Amino acid sequence: MAEANLQVQLARQPEGVPKVTDFQVIKAERPTPGAGQFLLRNIYLSLDPYQRGAIAGRHMGHVRLNPGDVIYGRCLGEVIESKHPDYRVGDHVLTESGWQQFFVSDGTKARKIKADAPLSAYLGALGMPGLTAWAGVEKLGSPRIGETFVVSAAAGPVGATAGQLAKAKGARVVGIAGGDEKCRLVVDKFGFDACVNYKAENWTDQLKAACRNGIQVYFDNVAGPMLDAVTAQTTPYARIVLCGFASQHNRTDAWVGHNVGQFVGKRTQLHGLVVYDYEEQYGAFTKVAAQMLRDGKLAIHEDRIEGLEFAPQLFVKLMKGDNVGKAIVVIGPEKL
Ligand SMILES: NC(=O)c1ccc[n+]([C@@H]2O[C@H](COP(=O)([O-])OP(=O)(O)OC[C@H]3O[C@@H](n4cnc5c(N)ncnc54)[C@H](OP(=O)(O)O)[C@@H]3O)[C@@H](O)[C@H]2O)c1
Repeated sequence: MAEANLQVQLARQPEGVPKVTDFQVIKAERPTPGAGQFLLRNIYLSLDPYQRGAIAGRHMGHVRLNPGDVIYGRCLGEVIESKHPDYRVGDHVLTESGWQQFFVSDGTKARKIKADAPLSAYLGALGMPGLTAWAGVEKLGSPRIGETFVVSAAAGPVGATAGQLAKAKGARVVGIAGGDEKCRLVVDKFGFDACVNYKAENWTDQLKAACRNGIQVYFDNVAGPMLDAVTAQTTPYARIVLCGFASQHNRTDAWVGHNVGQFVGKRTQLHGLVVYDYEEQYGAFTKVAAQMLRDGKLAIHEDRIEGLEFAPQLFVKLMKGDNVGKAIVVIGPEKL
């Protein structure tokens, strides 16, 4: 009998916040590579908020999944068999393989990793979330020495990396996160100057106290009412990086509007960010970020679960905003 390939498939389209029962874990047949292809044994799966929209066909470049389809996702794997001239057994490769143990690739959308930092970091601070943070800080928000930089979802991989990059540029960095545990992590491990728990009733007063000179750059990962509340504390000509809309991912009704009047009155510079625009700079970015990580200047924190069959549990946690750090599923050992 052929060897098995554990997969997580869609059982039914989620309504609102996904449930574990929206997914099904099955054993498919392990694929074999043909000419010009290689076989990957996946080690780590990255769980990311965009997957919620991708499953529903609301995220750019992703068609709506049907029951029985493998869930979208990026994995870091090891080549275990190759009939491709550019990939050798033992190479570490990032692919859009979906939530499964084994994957055959012809190199399309694959990226070989020169693993000079912890492997799983290439799915977080050194991966797509890190590149997003870098683009938002270096290319769009551009905080200057002494300016106040605020970032929401500050304990996640995008927010935590953005704050650390802004701090390295000399900004005063204030995070916004959901809960005291996350806020402690943001200050103690990621080195932010302050962090405000938006679940506290007086959080906007706390933000004001932490940003005495107003806010010059806001890196927004959440949208919704928080965007309006933070904008109220920005100074004229502030830059707002529109990166994510975590508060809206699971909505079943209409999108919540914004107070456009205050953007006009404050002459706010709004920058929409799409990480795919910066793919060509990934190599240069990871080189710098991996060095920062090795030098102890970039901290990472992961929320891990062991076993692909438990990926739905961690995804539900992420979609409820209960994850603390980068959501990573360990599919197999780094070395066999
Ligand atoms: N534009 C792009 O190209 C791009 C690329 C990558 C990521 N993103 C976006 O960047 C944001 C951060 O990504 P990440 O990977 O670092 O994720 P993450 O921070 O690990 O997870 C999302 C976080 O959103 C927060 N959140 C706020 N309101 C929420 C709500 N109503 N329901 C659920 N969660 C809520 C939660 O943290 P708190 O409760 O602590 O706030 C949750 O932990 C996401 O919105 C993502 O879609 C955009």
